[in-house]
Amino acid sequence: MWPAVSDTGIRGRGEDMRSAGHDLQRSLLSEKLADAVELTGYHDCLFAFRSDMFESVLNPGEELFAAGTAARIDGTEHADRRNVLNRLTKRDGHQWFRDRALGPTIPRVLAWSAENRGADGVVRTDLVVMARRIQVQLGAGIVGLQDVEDLQRSDTLIQIMNDIAGAISLQYLRGDRSHILPRALAAKERFREEFYEPSRAHHERLVSQHEAGELAESELPRDLLTLLVLGADPRWADPEIALREAMITIFGSVETSTMALTLAFDELETWFESHPEDRPLESDPSFLGDAIRESLRLHPAAPSQFRRAREAVELPSGVTVSAGDLIALRGPLANRDVSVYGPDAHVFDPRRQVEAGIYRYGLTFGSGQHLCFGMPFVLTGQGYDGALVQLMSALYAWGARRDPDSPARRHPDLERETFELYPITLTPPSR
Ligand code: HEM
Repeated sequence: MWPAVSDTGIRGRGEDMRSAGHDLQRSLLSEKLADAVELTGYHDCLFAFRSDMFESVLNPGEELFAAGTAARIDGTEHADRRNVLNRLTKRDGHQWFRDRALGPTIPRVLAWSAENRGADGVVRTDLVVMARRIQVQLGAGIVGLQDVEDLQRSDTLIQIMNDIAGAISLQYLRGDRSHILPRALAAKERFREEFYEPSRAHHERLVSQHEAGELAESELPRDLLTLLVLGADPRWADPEIALREAMITIFGSVETSTMALTLAFDELETWFESHPEDRPLESDPSFLGDAIRESLRLHPAAPSQFRRAREAVELPSGVTVSAGDLIALRGPLANRDVSVYGPDAHVFDPRRQVEAGIYRYGLTFGSGQHLCFGMPFVLTGQGYDGALVQLMSALYAWGARRDPDSPARRHPDLERETFELYPITLTPPSR
């Protein structure tokens, strides 16, 4: 059950200030929320996302992984970085991603699953594992990592990203956290040595050929490593910042999209059970696109994004925050704001209509200057031909269903919506 949005859209200013010691039964997130001004209304959150009177903050555990990356810089430094990064998503950049990463990845990962087909012709697999295998390939494609196409290398990269995720998601974790950072730092070194440096060396060779006039600019890969090697943003001259940008881009791609796919599949299957007449629409990309956007609205990747107020600010609800206040933008609550999405805002309805100018998928990708860089890959256009619709269509083309013998399991110690396990069955077309 979700707490109701208050009249002001604001909760919890400074109540229960914490002492230096941390209670392991509580996540760092809940401690931080107690110190923050919580924004729970759609328009207050939208305003805060778009306003330059708030700056981004580093979450606990992130320093050595995210500091200096696009997600954690602001102002003109950030605008310059995004101008460069957006070259990858603009115009035919997206087409490049489809042709080189998305297109080949989906059949390859489905084929890996098909190897485990049972005697009854049915594949029993875990959607979380499968989605991670797909997303890591897509993230690696956007960054330009080499040699990730075979299953073993792909799973090694997933393991590395899982360990790094521990640090970046540290604030959501309840229980003993002492092992998380050392493990994440070891994973970062492994990423540097086994994936980043060899791929960077490959890109350096290509850029040298380009500079020698042997390779046209249009023949250079349309990926992040090319931009890093070209020094398209001068701050990437710091090798640590360049490494973090690559790492965070893959991390940002894998976990968010894996959960988005799994949660949307879960919502869709529940919908089809109660609306069997809609089952034929599992092959309709526009229905799947609407359902995915509705699921994204209900299930943002994080319970909150944080900002710090640079100066005193009055929000659309009339409430003011003071300079220096920590602000919690509570996406899951803002996306269920009844004044925007109606009295049934908490209900999954793939046919929901929203007013012009309102995000169908809520504030799940943020808004304003830090709007998710990966969104054009995930959704595109009206949301019917992005990676998520393509993946969902591919799953349904293989007859994906929940495995009736093995229930899905949520992560018990993470304070955010995460499936640890989501068993499904697939019925691949016979060869
Ligand atoms: C369903 C999938 C995804 C969701 C829900 C999601 C969500 C978000 C959100 C909420 C933000 C803004 C955070 C803030 O304002 O503080 C963000 C930023 C970002 N996302 Fe995503 N993301 C997704 C997929 C991706 C993918 C596929 C990539 C990489 C290709 C990616 C890379 C990034 C980056 C680099 C930023 C930082 C942008 C900036 O601050 O300028 N994301 N994402």
